[in-house]
Amino acid sequence: MTENSFFNDVYGSWKDKQIEKYEELVLELGELFNNCNRVLDVGIGKAWFWDYLKENSYEFDFIKGIDVSREATDSEKDYIDYVYIDEDEKNFNLRDDIGEDNFDLVIVFDSIHLIGYSDELPSLINEGGFILQSIPLKFKDSLKRYPCMKIVDEGNIGVSEIDRYLLQKK
Ligand SMILES: C[S@@+](CC[C@H](N)C(=O)[O-])C[C@H]1O[C@@H](n2cnc3c(N)ncnc32)[C@H](O)[C@@H]1O
Repeated sequence: MTENSFFNDVYGSWKDKQIEKYEELVLELGELFNNCNRVLDVGIGKAWFWDYLKENSYEFDFIKGIDVSREATDSEKDYIDYVYIDEDEKNFNLRDDIGEDNFDLVIVFDSIHLIGYSDELPSLINEGGFILQSIPLKFKDSLKRYPCMKIVDEGNIGVSEIDRYLLQKK
């Protein structure tokens, strides 16, 4: 097996296990994705979730994706507005990077354990809007329960890998 085909196999299998989670999440929360127009994905990576929703006819007015580098998002999707952040930057300010407008839904899929600005996320959400987190069970203690937001739903999703998800409303 060449190095490239090994890489593609590993990469492909990671994508497959994410898709299994998306399938279950959409079965559980399909209405949520029908009712949110402005969405923010924190740690968007390769945007597989948005490709999956698009393929399943979900439409959004505006999708913003945060990540740390072009390498993480390669290839960029033309229907997503990307923002690259550097938390270690001396003058790092999330609001400056994101812009003034807020979101109906903030998604943090497999990334809440990686970000240092999780306390700031509720301030980016419209009144009545949502935050949805999902994380592999082994990291489930990293799930952030925002006291200012109501828990709407939580559960497990996935087949090859099980995630815990948590949905909260502002
Ligand atoms: C495990 S991947 C999950 C990618 C995608 N959400 C998914 O479920 O397929 C974690 C992502 O978070 C990104 N990330 C790491 N630190 C971050 C930070 N401080 N802010 C935003 N994204 C970050 C990584 O580059 C990577 O794309």
